[in-house]
Amino acid sequence: MSRITILAGAILLTTAIMLTAACGSSSSSTSASPKGSSQSSSPASATSWTAPAEAKNLKAPSGDKAQSAARGKTLFGTSCASCHGSAGKGDGPVGAALKPKPTDLTTSAKNQTEGEIFWKITEGKGAMPGSKSLSEQDRWDLVAYIQSLSN
Ligand code: HEC
Repeated sequence: MSRITILAGAILLTTAIMLTAACGSSSSSTSASPKGSSQSSSPASATSWTAPAEAKNLKAPSGDKAQSAARGKTLFGTSCASCHGSAGKGDGPVGAALKPKPTDLTTSAKNQTEGEIFWKITEGKGAMPGSKSLSEQDRWDLVAYIQSLSN
């Protein structure tokens, strides 16, 4: 229990620091990213959004992954598909106008831990709203669904 509290505190702190940093540097990532440089060590996915190290080790509660993913699919349809597309490919109608575009979740989840995906869903970034109003179980269900997309 106390470990979870410490972890939650660390995440909050990290968020506060990131928010502070974001105020000073609006749109620093829009055009400056060096595309085309092929580093063999970095994942091929287009995302430049990195979750903090502490997020890596967050673990989903034990339970039936298939059931969790099925619940996540329903939630995804109501809360996420407008941007990410009904199958998570990043091609939803609302997402079309966004810059950067909503991430293709069928490829981006491969190289990330469940904790990192959970953290990103929780925090949100730019046009993507955070999901702190959803229960943790709901967010883990979404993670399970997203992970099932790249299997
Ligand atoms: C208003 C549009 C919008 C909605 C709604 C939205 N997203 Fe996103 N999402 C985005 C955008 C845009 C990005 C890319 C953010 C960036 O990298 O700057 C993103 C990124 C992500 C990522 C990170 C992918 C990666 O590997 O970096 C995940 C995971 C994700 N969204 C899941 C969700 C889930 C789950 C929901 C529903 C609860 C959701 N999104 C709702 C627009 C949206």
